[in-house]
Amino acid sequence: MKTKAVVFDAYGTLFDVNSAAKRCKDKIGTKWETFANFWRTTQLEYTWLRSLMKRHKNFWDVTVDSLDKSMKVFNINKNMKKELLSLYKNLSPYPEVRGVLGDLKKKNYKLAILSNGTPALLNELVVSNKLNNLFDDLFSVEEIKVYKPDSRVYKIPIEKYNVKANEITFLSANTWDVSGGGNFGYNSIWVNRNNSVFDSLDFQPKNEIRNLTQLLDIV
Ligand code: LAC
Repeated sequence: MKTKAVVFDAYGTLFDVNSAAKRCKDKIGTKWETFANFWRTTQLEYTWLRSLMKRHKNFWDVTVDSLDKSMKVFNINKNMKKELLSLYKNLSPYPEVRGVLGDLKKKNYKLAILSNGTPALLNELVVSNKLNNLFDDLFSVEEIKVYKPDSRVYKIPIEKYNVKANEITFLSANTWDVSGGGNFGYNSIWVNRNNSVFDSLDFQPKNEIRNLTQLLDIV
């Protein structure tokens, strides 16, 4: 099936979620990376738990709640909270992102983000990184108030573009999100940035790439 739209996950796929804590590594010390990974894992667990409990809270509030817990666990000075949160709003894109999006745009694909992030967060991320002209749409789960990998999330772009699920090529660095999109019917590709192991969730991506540059050989 021919790809009609290329849809990207945001956090961890286009934007480096650990870059906020990394910029504070002098103040946090050598534990910065374990702390950053714990914060991310807790944030994701809270999204899944909230969807299961049917107690939705937006992604920014979940990010704050998970930071509160992580700071306690890692004994991080409370004064760091404001700085970490403000850095989280301005995460850096991975180095190849801009060039790849530009090349895809020339091929006339619809380009979109599909993310747990709120519309305001996604907008700020793309605007502050000057990527806003490259995307046709920034799809947020806030539209339906349930988190990935609920299948209703993956339905959002197919309804907007009036395409079949397998006409969407979906990129995520998050294995569970690749499985979520793949089980839904997307052509899901895993961006395996850290040489990790894939999940066993009844979906195996046809393509696995190390960074987004390799996508240009696939679509
Ligand atoms: C997102 C998270 C899952 O952007 O990375 O939706």
